[in-house]
Amino acid sequence: MSCEEDLFCGLNKAKSDNIEEMTDLEKKHTPIIEAPAKVKKGEPFEVKIEVGKLMAHPNENAHFIEWIELFSGDTFLARANLEPRLTAPRVKFVVALDHGHELVAKERCNLHGVWESQPFVIELVD
Ligand SMILES: [Fe+2]
Repeated sequence: MSCEEDLFCGLNKAKSDNIEEMTDLEKKHTPIIEAPAKVKKGEPFEVKIEVGKLMAHPNENAHFIEWIELFSGDTFLARANLEPRLTAPRVKFVVALDHGHELVAKERCNLHGVWESQPFVIELVD
């Protein structure tokens, strides 16, 4: 099996951001970011991330989302560890940015590996 065929090799990412062109696996695992399009530099704002928003992902002991992380470009911002059944893969982080890199969310499914969101463009103003 090549790395491209192995969900546990590297990062998985939907081939398209058009829901019509996404597979069910991509819809279930792609983290969806909600945040303001424009924020003030250094001022706290909310970023919501949901896994399974496009198509529900299982949340049971044998198959669940283990964690969700948020990055600004390559800079790590936050992480939430999750439990099957007891927590839903929906989180809200409050962040304050000094640099206007795109937001990227990652999540890990215990059966389907690590998945990355589409980049969320955010404009920083003084
Ligand atoms: Fe999964």
